[in-house]
Amino acid sequence: MLGNIVYSNPTKLYFGEGSLEHLREELQKYGKNVQLVYGGGSIKKNGIYDQVAAILDEEGKNILEDGGVMPNPTVEKLYEGCRIAREGKADLILAVGGGSCCDYAKAVSISANCKEDPWEKYFLNFEDVDADTEIIPVGCVLTMVGTGSEMNGGSVITNHESKLKIGHVFGERVYPKFSVLDPVYTYSLPKYQMVAGFYDIMNHICEQYFSGEDDNTSDYIMEGLMKSLVHSSRIAIENPKDYEARSNIMWTATWALNTLVAMGKSTDWMVHMLGQAVGAHTDATHGMTLSAVSLPYYRHIMPYGLAKFIRFAQNVWNVSPEGKTKKEVAEEGLGALEAWMKEIGVVMNTRELGVTEEMLDGLVQSTFIMEGGYKVLAKDEIRDILKESME
Ligand code: NZQ
Ligand code: ZN
Repeated sequence: MLGNIVYSNPTKLYFGEGSLEHLREELQKYGKNVQLVYGGGSIKKNGIYDQVAAILDEEGKNILEDGGVMPNPTVEKLYEGCRIAREGKADLILAVGGGSCCDYAKAVSISANCKEDPWEKYFLNFEDVDADTEIIPVGCVLTMVGTGSEMNGGSVITNHESKLKIGHVFGERVYPKFSVLDPVYTYSLPKYQMVAGFYDIMNHICEQYFSGEDDNTSDYIMEGLMKSLVHSSRIAIENPKDYEARSNIMWTATWALNTLVAMGKSTDWMVHMLGQAVGAHTDATHGMTLSAVSLPYYRHIMPYGLAKFIRFAQNVWNVSPEGKTKKEVAEEGLGALEAWMKEIGVVMNTRELGVTEEMLDGLVQSTFIMEGGYKVLAKDEIRDILKESME
């Protein structure tokens, strides 16, 4: 049963080819100093930097350069971003890039004027932040699809020293005020990043789908999103410049993690916790850390949520139940997921990402345990799953 819901999402989306023109009207709402956040240089190669800089210039803005945001942004980079924001008196933080840039921009937004250590306050201790610190508004121009960071409060920061990768879901104040989503901007993504994003989307949906036993509208929406993703992913692999497929995928990614489909659900997130532990130890690409641990995890929890796994097999993968046991139907669904993952070419084991036997104890330590799924894992189960993910 759905229960009572309060729903709001303050991010304004400008979606479609040429949508960057809308940046002009958004810029008029903010002061002169724009902290321009971007990554390791892809936007300079594909021309997006020049397009954004030209608009900022024409609108009379002063650019505070903040490039070099790495995939899986670090706590040291966060401190640097806070310094840039404070010294330059940033009025707006404009992230131009993927989830790493958007996440980082949100972390700087809430941390720049924070008197305490933001890593400890927000990430290590999950302190609720809605009540205090002044924020700097964030806007986003998305160039990589997958995380949903363009329309949510999520922000994931990595601390290599303590080997922890932790996400905080900030409240509405920290959500991007606006996001520009032009599918054409994703055409220049290398295949590895593109498919990592596809699996990130799939897993965000699975994390919210595999929980609960009730009849819930959110589950039906998620089945539709998964089918759309699988369909469009196959077209995009054949032709990365297929606008219809790339735009459907971009839209699916946003709706997969902008809180809508979590309404009325307890949600799991255990694959992300395992993946983030792998990420903290290897700095591997986020979507690939998820693909590498997923199947051992889902095969492990399947008996505890059998009815949903059967539904997944039938409704998402068209598995026929004729003449099969319930377990066989559920297994065939996971088999279909596995076949799709191999077809699009995501990483299927953590060894390929650099995980070694010596890391196992540390990985178990770095894995946070979630309680919203079908089974609350014990430490030895986490170890077994991580071990199996290496094979
Ligand atoms: O740094 P540059 O040079 O820009 O290159 C990036 C980066 O190397 C490249 N790239 C991005 N757009 C491109 C492009 N290359 C060519 N053409 C383009 N158009 O792609 C690489 C990956 O970018 P990144 O932003 O790191 O990827 P993603 O969007 O997957 O973000 C990953 C981060 O988001 C977090 C992850 O943990 C990770 O730290 N997540 C955030 C979430 C949220 N806010 O809700 C949820 C997710 O589950 C995830 O945890
Ligand atoms: Zn993810």
